[in-house]
Amino acid sequence: MDIIICPTSADAEKLTARMIADAINAKPEFRLGLATGATMENVYAELTALYKAGKVDFSQVRSWNLDEYVGLPPEHDQSYRYFMNTRLFNNINIDIRNTHVPNGLADDEEAEAARYDEEIEDAGGIDLWLVGIGKTGHIAFNDPGTSFNSRTHVAYLSNETYEQNKNYFNPPESMPRRAFTAGVGTIMESRKILQLITGERKADIAAAAIEGPMTAMISSSALQLHPDAVIILDEAAASKLKLRDFYKEIFANDPKWAAYR
Ligand code: GLP
Repeated sequence: MDIIICPTSADAEKLTARMIADAINAKPEFRLGLATGATMENVYAELTALYKAGKVDFSQVRSWNLDEYVGLPPEHDQSYRYFMNTRLFNNINIDIRNTHVPNGLADDEEAEAARYDEEIEDAGGIDLWLVGIGKTGHIAFNDPGTSFNSRTHVAYLSNETYEQNKNYFNPPESMPRRAFTAGVGTIMESRKILQLITGERKADIAAAAIEGPMTAMISSSALQLHPDAVIILDEAAASKLKLRDFYKEIFANDPKWAAYR
């Protein structure tokens, strides 16, 4: 794992967007994995700004999102399809037909989950998957206890995740309790994983996921096994990392990071 600590959340968001844009520029027919959540809003604003400045072209990019609430139509303002359309897809030159989010209204949930994994596989796999982290240590909606080998499935959300997300809904109790989520195994098959973690409220879980033992109780800890995982944090989220200074030393001195310093 490569750990990069940025002074502020704005620096971390900008760096994340730049790395994604550089990866797309190096391979225009990019297969991009995407995430939702407050953490990603400025990353998408930054990618939009890069696009408007002519610094990245999404015309040949295909995307797959991590998750979607069961039962929410695409036009629901809390659906992840709506989040992606409004925060990113409508603002850049991606072909909307090339953007994929699980269908929250699918009648046959198992078939929809299997179809999603097949679609990714048929496309040749994901080149880079952008992920965040939830308070339970989840990536996507893989709450504690989810197997590292899990495939896309419908998950029943933990109490903590429900409490964390329900205030976005009006009324809060209308938040669906289940969601389609890419499995830990699905995400781990991505050639590269880019994780963004910001804010003091994520400091404890970031330390546990990055420096603690690998465990299905913290699905993000699976990233320790990934051959190309880059984790970008701001100072606040990195404040509980034991090897904080070492990670900073590597970023400041290793020639492989020269373009991003
Ligand atoms: C949701 C999403 C996750 C995301 C998490 C953190 O639960 N399913 O993919 O990482 O929220 O969200 P935030 O960035 O708002 O803290």
